Amino acid sequence: MGYDLAHIWNTMKNKFKSIPVKSSEITPYSQYVSRREFLKTAGVFSGAAALAACAPKGIQSAISEKEAATPYAFDELGDPVNSLDDIAHYNNFYEFTEDKEGVARLAQEFTTRPWTVDVYGLVRNPKTYGIEDLLNKFTQEERIYRLRCVEAWSMVVPWTGFSLASLLREADPTSDAKYVRFETIHRPEEMPGLKSPFYPWPYQEGLRLDEALNELTILATGLYGLPMPNQDGAPIRLIAPWKYGFKSIKSIVRIELVAERPATFWNTVNAKEYGFYSNVNPQRPHPRWSQATERRIGEFGRRSTLMFNGYAEQVAHLYEGMDLIKEY
Ligand code: MTE
Repeated sequence: MGYDLAHIWNTMKNKFKSIPVKSSEITPYSQYVSRREFLKTAGVFSGAAALAACAPKGIQSAISEKEAATPYAFDELGDPVNSLDDIAHYNNFYEFTEDKEGVARLAQEFTTRPWTVDVYGLVRNPKTYGIEDLLNKFTQEERIYRLRCVEAWSMVVPWTGFSLASLLREADPTSDAKYVRFETIHRPEEMPGLKSPFYPWPYQEGLRLDEALNELTILATGLYGLPMPNQDGAPIRLIAPWKYGFKSIKSIVRIELVAERPATFWNTVNAKEYGFYSNVNPQRPHPRWSQATERRIGEFGRRSTLMFNGYAEQVAHLYEGMDLIKEY
């Protein structure tokens, strides 16, 4: 008896709330992951030994070990996407815990529906959007981006989301608007990390308006063709892939257009270590982590860090004339 991957995909997909992405526009989840991993996630088998022992006959004959380990998606530099397991089990989300491997468990019961995002401030059309409005109204696209944390680890993530520019265009900023401020939900009853008195909650972040309007900047609503896992910032988070990961604020409820540079979470905690811009810059050492190299999760050894995380062509012009060592 053969095994029908499309059937597994459909069964899995129905376990999640559907996202309004036309199937023709998105690579199915099954094609992102190695077949081995996909089948494992689908509960068909677990571990290498099980491949021979337990897998249905169709799988044993149809998929070799080598084939099963081949990823389906790569970034534009030719590097494979990280596994869903890595992306969803190695997280920074301090509202839950500072333990990267503990976030997924603590965020499991986090309520992400109903959810609204207020877009307001120096705009002609302020509006409160329900998350379903955002998913339906704005074209959801796939973006495979590198995510580089200032702690000097990195991943390649297949996000789904929509351009922040499209939302801002609808809000219609006035000529006084120079920056965009983002804020994470503050829900102490579900977020045990908020008890920590050492941090200036709620988490907030900011971009200059031209950075926010850059074509790379998205509001991500999912990854791997699935709705965003809670631990990765469900239901909606920012992604600005040329900046250190901490700029990519999770679980956003407020987007405000402002005239002055807004305070940001990590800059408030320690301005010497974390600047407002926080563009990935291998030449600017951080007091605790050299930024010259990084460890790609899932790889041995280190690789060189690229200026603007490899996105110089798209963003270097935003910083012309600036001294990026002083203005970090
Ligand atoms: N957003 C909020 N609200 N809280 C956080 O603790 N951590 C940041 C960023 N966004 C964080 C956040 C940091 S330090 C990083 S590296 C990325 O999220 C990690 O995203 P990931 O867990 O999806 O890999």
